[in-house]
Parts: sequence; C-alpha cells; structure tokens
Amino acid sequence: PLPPPFQVPLPLPPVLKPVSATGGIDRYEMTQRATTAEILPGVKTPLWTYEGTFPGPTIEARRGRPVTVTHRNKLPVPAVVHLHGGRTPAASDGYPTDLILPDGWPDAARRAQGGHGGHGGHAMSGMHDPRAVVTRLTRDYTFPMDQRSALLWYHDHRMDFTAPAIWRGLAGLQIVRDDDEDALGLPAGRRELPLMITDRAFAADGTLTYPALDPDLREQPGVQEPYLAGVLGDVILVNGAPWPVHEVDAARYRLRVLNASNARHYELEAVTGDGRRLDLVQIGADQGLLAAPVTHPRLPIAPAERYDVVIDFSDVPVGGRVTLVNRLGSGRTRDVMAFRVARKAADDSRVPRVLANDLPAWRRSDAARVRDISFRAGRMHGGHGWLIDGKPFDPARTDVTTRLGDVEIWRLVADVHHPVHLHLVGFRVLSRGGRPPLAHDAGLKDTVSLRPGESVEIITRFDGYRGRYLFHCHNAEHEDMGMMANLEII
Ligand code: C2O
Ligand code: CU
Repeated sequence: PLPPPFQVPLPLPPVLKPVSATGGIDRYEMTQRATTAEILPGVKTPLWTYEGTFPGPTIEARRGRPVTVTHRNKLPVPAVVHLHGGRTPAASDGYPTDLILPDGWPDAARRAQGGHGGHGGHAMSGMHDPRAVVTRLTRDYTFPMDQRSALLWYHDHRMDFTAPAIWRGLAGLQIVRDDDEDALGLPAGRRELPLMITDRAFAADGTLTYPALDPDLREQPGVQEPYLAGVLGDVILVNGAPWPVHEVDAARYRLRVLNASNARHYELEAVTGDGRRLDLVQIGADQGLLAAPVTHPRLPIAPAERYDVVIDFSDVPVGGRVTLVNRLGSGRTRDVMAFRVARKAADDSRVPRVLANDLPAWRRSDAARVRDISFRAGRMHGGHGWLIDGKPFDPARTDVTTRLGDVEIWRLVADVHHPVHLHLVGFRVLSRGGRPPLAHDAGLKDTVSLRPGESVEIITRFDGYRGRYLFHCHNAEHEDMGMMANLEII
C-alpha cells in the first residue's frame, strides 16, 4: 500500500533534551530499542531505534562544549555507536568491536564462531580483537565537539552488521553550531530543515525487507548474492516518511541534506510545478561551511555525504509546488519529496558572499607522504568480498600508520562506485580523475564519492587524537563485506 507522493507531512526529528547541562558538559541518555512505527499507511513496521524514533532524536551541540551520551542497549544484538564526522577520541569513536552487549548475550571474546559460508558470508564476527573494549548494557560516549559547525550523524557501527542495523533504523543527527555561523544571518529556525534521505524496501505487512543471510543478525554476516553490490529500496523516505511534503513560506530555506541510504546515490534537483529548476546554493559540505557559496543546478549525493544548501522559494507562486527530484532514480525512486509554497512572507535571511575563513589550505608540498589505496571487489573467506588494497577488514591488523600532525595525500582508486569515509579528520579533494575537483567537491569533507574507475586525491592533516581509527567505504554493504581498514595515529 504505497502512499501517493507528496501527501505525508515531513516529520522533523525530535531534539533530545540533555539530562543535565552543568559543569560545561551536556549529558544525554539514549535507549536503543525495538519498536514499531506506521511508516506506510495502515501497516506497522518493526524498527530498531534510538529512543523509539526513526530517525533518532537530534542532538544540538555547541562548538567546544562537550557532549556525553550514555547509550543503553535494549536491542536483541550488540550495538556500537559512531558519530560520523565527529572529532572524537578513539575510545568513544565506536570501533566496530567495542560492543555494548545486550542482556543475555554471551561475552564476545569467549564466543567461538564457526559455520560461516555462503555468498558474502565470512567469519569475522568472532575474530579475536585484543584491543576491543566491550561493555554490557550501557556505555558512555564522550564527544568534545572541538570542531567546526557541521551536520554530523550517529549510526550503528557493529562489525559485520552495520548495514542491516542502519536499515532497521539506527541513525540520527547531531548538529554542531557556533557563534560565527549564527552571525551569518542564514535561514534559521523553522526555515532550517534537516533532511535525512534513505531508501527502504517493505513487505506487504509493513516489515522492512533486507536480504541478510542471517535475519536475526546474530551469527552470519553478509547479504544474498544478488545484493552484493548494495541493498536498494523502492521507497524513498525523508526523515522516515515516504515521499513527504512540507509547507514553506515563499522565502529562503536552509536544507541540511544527509544521504543516509545504505547504497543509493542521488542526484538532487529542485523543479517547480511549471518545470523551472531552482538553484541549489551550497553553503556547506560534510565538515561545515564552505569559504563561499557555490551554485549548482543539481547535486550528486553519495551515501553518508552531507550538503548544506539554501533554496529560495520567493519566486514560486503561492500554492505552487517544488519537487525534489532524484535524477538517478526511475519510476517512484525519481521522487524524493516536495515543498508546497503556502504563503508570502518577509525574509531577512541572507547568504553572505564569504561564509568562513577557517578552511584549511593544505598544499601538496605540506604532505609528509603520499599513499595509494585501492577499493576493489575480490574474494574473502571463500566468498565475495569488497577489499581495500586487496584485503578484507581485520581488526587485528594495522593498515595505515601515521603520525599525529602529519599532512598526507591519499590517492584513492575505485573499480565501481565507492563513497570513501575517513574517521576523525576532514579532508579536501585535490583532484578527481587527474583533473581539478568538481564543483560539489568544495569545502571540507569526510566522505568522497569515487566514481567507477576513478582515482581521487585527497589531502588532510591527521590531528586531534592518537589511537585506532577507521577508513572505509560507506556503501554499508561493502563496509560489512570487508571494505574497511584500520588507521593508527601515533
Ligand atoms: Cu558513517 Cu565509519 O561511518
Ligand atoms: Cu564501496
């Protein structure tokens, strides 16, 4: 029973209230639990959630003001929380074996694992990781928030099972703000909209369908063979609602777009009822504001990327509709959501010509070293895998060791589409396919979309904290099937 498009109102995720805000720290508590929600009309969908909602509640943070979140795991499986885009000490970064065990789950380190096989299945879940820090029932995560204002997101990161856990609903937003950004006069309040875009597939009874080899997500990781490239859904959800509509003023709006889909890429375009295309004025990237706005006719957005975009509805007649279209989709996956212009309204917002002057300008000559890193399909544990430099993820192996403070250039090369994400740091795109970066590569990023056969150079400084971090493909199925590696900062 798929609803007609643009009928369901756009939900806005609730903002979580801190349980205390004393001593310069905002303390939050979140319970992870199973629940059901009516996503499609008339049927109930079982979900795994943060605090009972999908998306989970939004955490509003201020730059430099630490946030701690105590997570309680009432799910039937272990959980790991990662704050994507966070400049986070390693102990709170959600390493995939740093599990929060639920009640009754055997101690991970003692559990023997075996009997793996099948397409995409592999035997890593039981791999012994001597550095894992496992807790039971709860865990405190500390996020210093010593970073640029940006739209971050938190999601599950459990080894081998990240993709199906996110699919079931384990994702939410965390927004970092600061005084400089507040002073710019950008559209704000109800004219700032977080948009978490995901695709999902549903059975007739409302259940989410996901082709996991082990539907309980307990033992055997991986997906059925036809889905090795990634799992796509035919229903597009924005903030958890199918093809929603939002009433807007004839004014500027700030859209904070996150592609939280497991594997689907979008190319977004805003089209009016009479076929006009509205400009998408990009003001920010994954890691915060650009130096200056960049105007796009359309915007490609890979899994885990964020685009901060201003769109101006002031020329749209009252009663008119603007559709956010996915040019890469077909049939119903071509529609994303719509805006209905409800009224004329005053607008004192602006998009300044200079947005930020703190963007790092690393030069090639700053780089202590250049690394070549490949992202390609291959074989692992006797099945299909997705490999980095020919190897599947192994928590016991260090893949890249770098020194705190060093600048490096990474030359990333791909066979098929791979959105590559580095934990801890933001980076800049230096080149794409041997050419200058594309318009949408602007700013400070933490996820870059490698297109098929393409080589992309990025530059970053590994600063912040020492410890064990990750880089991986953010096609979540690729990630679960090996395409992840360890980054040790010493
Ligand atoms: Cu969005 Cu390693 O994660
Ligand atoms: Cu990939």
